[in-house]
Amino acid sequence: MGDQNYNTQALEPNGRAVGVTEHAWCQAVSCGTGITVLALQVCKAETEISLLQNALPKLQNAHPILRSKLHYNTASNAFSFTTPTKPYLQPKLFSLSSTSQLLQTLSNNSSNTSLSPLHLILEHEMNTNIWSNPSNFPCTGLDVLVSNVYALPEMKLVVVLRLHTVACDRTTAVSLLRELKELVGEREGGGVQGKKGDIISLGIEELIPNGKAKKPLWAHGVDMLSYSVNSLRLTNLKFKDVKGTRCSEVVRLKLNPQETANILAGCESRGIKLCGALAAAGLIAAHSSKRRHDHPRKKYAVVTLMDCRSLLEPPLSGHHFGYYHFAILNILAVGGGENIWDLASRSYMAFAKSKNCNKHFSDMADLNFLMCKVIENPGLTPSSSLRTSFISVFENPVIDTTREMDQELGLEDYMGCSSVHGVGPSIALFDTIRDGRLDCACVYPSPLHSREQMEEFVGHMKRVLIHGSY
Ligand SMILES: *[C@@H]1O[C@H](CO)[C@@H](O)[C@H](O)[C@H]1NC(C)=O
Ligand SMILES: *[C@@H]1O[C@H](CO)[C@@H](O)[C@H](O)[C@H]1NC(C)=O
Ligand SMILES: *[C@@H]1O[C@H](CO)[C@@H](O)[C@H](O)[C@H]1NC(C)=O
Repeated sequence: MGDQNYNTQALEPNGRAVGVTEHAWCQAVSCGTGITVLALQVCKAETEISLLQNALPKLQNAHPILRSKLHYNTASNAFSFTTPTKPYLQPKLFSLSSTSQLLQTLSNNSSNTSLSPLHLILEHEMNTNIWSNPSNFPCTGLDVLVSNVYALPEMKLVVVLRLHTVACDRTTAVSLLRELKELVGEREGGGVQGKKGDIISLGIEELIPNGKAKKPLWAHGVDMLSYSVNSLRLTNLKFKDVKGTRCSEVVRLKLNPQETANILAGCESRGIKLCGALAAAGLIAAHSSKRRHDHPRKKYAVVTLMDCRSLLEPPLSGHHFGYYHFAILNILAVGGGENIWDLASRSYMAFAKSKNCNKHFSDMADLNFLMCKVIENPGLTPSSSLRTSFISVFENPVIDTTREMDQELGLEDYMGCSSVHGVGPSIALFDTIRDGRLDCACVYPSPLHSREQMEEFVGHMKRVLIHGSY
C-alpha cells in the first residue's frame, strides 16, 4: 500500500523514508495536531539539571528514532528520517527571570488565572511548533525531540520533553518517562544504560500480519464514503470561534482514590474498560447541553486509539519507540436520559467488535487517507472546524505506580498529552491512573472551544463519572 511514499534513495548515515501512517502524522503535525509534551515538575534543581544532561544522550543513544531528524522533499512531497550515529541532545535552560516573565504573559493570556506553572508551560510547549512549515526544513533536518528546562522559585524546575508524534505515540511517551526516571535516579535494570540502538524500527505498515489489511474493494469504498459524509451529519460541541488562530489548551480532570476505585469496579463488573466509561461520560455531558433542542437522538463519533505493538509481526515491545497506534472510529447515537453504564457498555462493545474483525488494520489506510484529505479540504468538516470526531480515548489507561521512585527523584507532579488544534477531535482524553487516582488531561482546540466552555464540560463529565448520571 502507498508504494509511492517509499522512495529508496540512499539516506545517510542511517535512515529511511517514512511509512504511510508516519506520513499522515507528518502532515498532521505540520498543521498543529500531534505535538506531544511531557512536562515534569521537580524539586532539587541543582542536582537535577546535570543528571538530565547526562540522561538525555543515553536515551538518544538507546533509541535511534529519538536522535533521528525529519526531512522533507518538496519535489516528491515525501518525508524521511536520517539517523546520526551519535546522540546530541542537550536541554535548553530558561532562567528564573525569563521563566517568570513567560509565565506572567501566559497567565495573563489565559482566561483562568489559577493555572499552575506546570500547566501553563505544558500548554505553551504544545503550541510551539517547529515542524509547522515543512518547506522550511533545513537540509540537516529537524530534531524530533526537543528538551527545555524552566527554573521556578524555591529551587524547582519544570523539565519538558517535546516530541513529534511520528517518533512518539503514547506507549513511547510512557516508556520514555520511565527510562528517564531510571537514568536520572541512576538505577540499573532499565535496560537503557550502555545499550546502543543502531537502526530505527520499521513503520507500522511493514509489520501488519499477512492478510489482515485486506478488505474487499467495495467495502473499502463504502466505509470511506460513510466516514466523510457522516462527519457532516455528526454532532459536535458548540463551536465558539471558528475563525481565530488555533492552539491547544488543557483542562485537567482528577478523581480521588475512592471515586476512581468505584469507576474501575463498575467497569470490571461489566467486562468493559475505562475508555468506555470515559467516552460515555463525555457523551452524556455533551448531549445534555443540547437536550433543550428538538433533536432527541444525535450521533457522535468516538475514536478509540489502540496500541498495536503486540499484534504486529514480529510483535514489538513497549521499548520499541515510534508510532504504532491505530484508531477505530465508532458512531454512537445518544438519546438523552441514558445511564452512564449502559452507554459505557455500548461504546466499549462497539469498539471491541470493530477490533475483533481487525477493523484497525483494514481501516488504517482509510483513516490516514481521511486525515490527509481533511487537512487539504477543511470544508469536508462542519464550519471548516477540522473536527473528525467528538472525542478520542485510549483503549487502556496509563497505570503509574512509581510513587516511591518519584519521591526519591523529587518529582512532584507531571502531565503528558498531545496537541489537537490541527485536525482531530473536540476533546482528546489522556488518562493516567497514578497511585490509584484518575488524572486525565483533556485537550481541546481553542478558540474553537473556549476554556470556560471546556471547564464546565469537564466538570459535568466528572459529576457523571462520580454519580453515575447527572
Ligand atoms: C495582559 O493582557 C491585556 C489584555 O489581554 C493586555 O492589555 C496587557 O498588556 C497584558 N499584560 C501583560 C503584562 O502582558
Ligand atoms: C499572548 O497573547 C497575545 C495576544 O493574543 C499574543 O500575541 C502572544 O503571542 C501571547 N503570548 C504567549 C506567550 O502566548
Ligand atoms: C481554573 O483552573 C484550576 C486548575 O486547573 C481549576 O481547579 C479551576 O476549577 C479552574 N477554574 C474554573 C472556573 O473552572
